[in-house]
Amino acid sequence: MLSKKESRLETLEEYIIQNQNRFPGATGELSQLLRDIGLAAKIISREVNKAGITNILGFDGSTNIHGEAVKKLDLFADQQLISALDRSLITCMVISEENDGIVRMSSKNGKYIVYLDPLDGSSNIDVNVSIGSIFSVYMREPRYDSALRESDALQPGVRQVAAGYVLYGSSTILAYTTGLGVSLFTLDPSIGEFILSDRMIKMPDYGNIYSINEGSYNSWDLGLKQYIKYCQEEDQESGRPYSARYIGSMVADIHRTLIKGGIFIYPHSNRYPNGKLRLMYECNPLSFIIEQAGGMATDGEKRIMELEPTKIHQQTPIYIGSKKNVEDVMKFLKEYK
Ligand code: AHG
Ligand code: MN
Ligand code: MN
Ligand code: MN
Repeated sequence: MLSKKESRLETLEEYIIQNQNRFPGATGELSQLLRDIGLAAKIISREVNKAGITNILGFDGSTNIHGEAVKKLDLFADQQLISALDRSLITCMVISEENDGIVRMSSKNGKYIVYLDPLDGSSNIDVNVSIGSIFSVYMREPRYDSALRESDALQPGVRQVAAGYVLYGSSTILAYTTGLGVSLFTLDPSIGEFILSDRMIKMPDYGNIYSINEGSYNSWDLGLKQYIKYCQEEDQESGRPYSARYIGSMVADIHRTLIKGGIFIYPHSNRYPNGKLRLMYECNPLSFIIEQAGGMATDGEKRIMELEPTKIHQQTPIYIGSKKNVEDVMKFLKEYK
């Protein structure tokens, strides 16, 4: 946490401008894009906090490409983020969980491609549990013709120029990275500004919290079953047994892991043979944040951010968190392969 003096009400806008020239090739446009996301986040946060009062809870009646029943707040967040990004004409296309194909923006020449999970943890909306939004930004590859193609957006996570999340919890927190460390901002609703609360955050190298939906236990690989058993054994020295914490909103589970350390796992299962979480707008951006804070993220074998995407909505298993914890689970997966 920053000391009172250090934080001195430095707003997201001020911080972005002060740091924009630290980012190679920064032309102020990326700063504008981050400000656009910050604005949309404030509007979504206001709606989330009024959810019980306004008619924004419940289902919209449609299902998305993943066969998930779409919530009204999924669509509200999607619209707010896309329109905020569209206004500054620097984004050429958006890919979001709630839209089957690419969303072409007003400006065909925008230099950025933005992936969105506009509302993460939708199953928690109606029960007042923390939810989030996730974003991931790529440069559009300069090409001879300006026709926008889905293939322009199929880039590995290592090519992200920025990524982050908003957590609508007991307070609204925005975290982002441009590859120069992770900064955290807390929304002060009384002045409508995100205030810097942590810069260059580093996560614990090891933690004694594991986070996984144990309901899919029967379809786990043997190595994963053995690892979770290891987490539950008594061993003072390594702080075992660990605590189990699972919120069901990836953003909230990852934010806790960023702050307290430990590991979050969403493996492949009978129900989700390739894992449930989406590579491009959940796993890559959150892996960028966790790696920038000193952690690690793999699909059980390979680094998440080096996976070559073939589909914009593709899913992947993910093992993400403190370096030592991820290394431990990978040893078990390998040993019992
Ligand atoms: P979304 O609400 O964007 O569809 O994402 C939900 C995801 C993620 O937030 C969470 O970690 C996971 O689904 C929970 O899945 P289970 O309910 O299967 O555990
Ligand atoms: Mn969903
Ligand atoms: Mn999600
Ligand atoms: Mn979502």
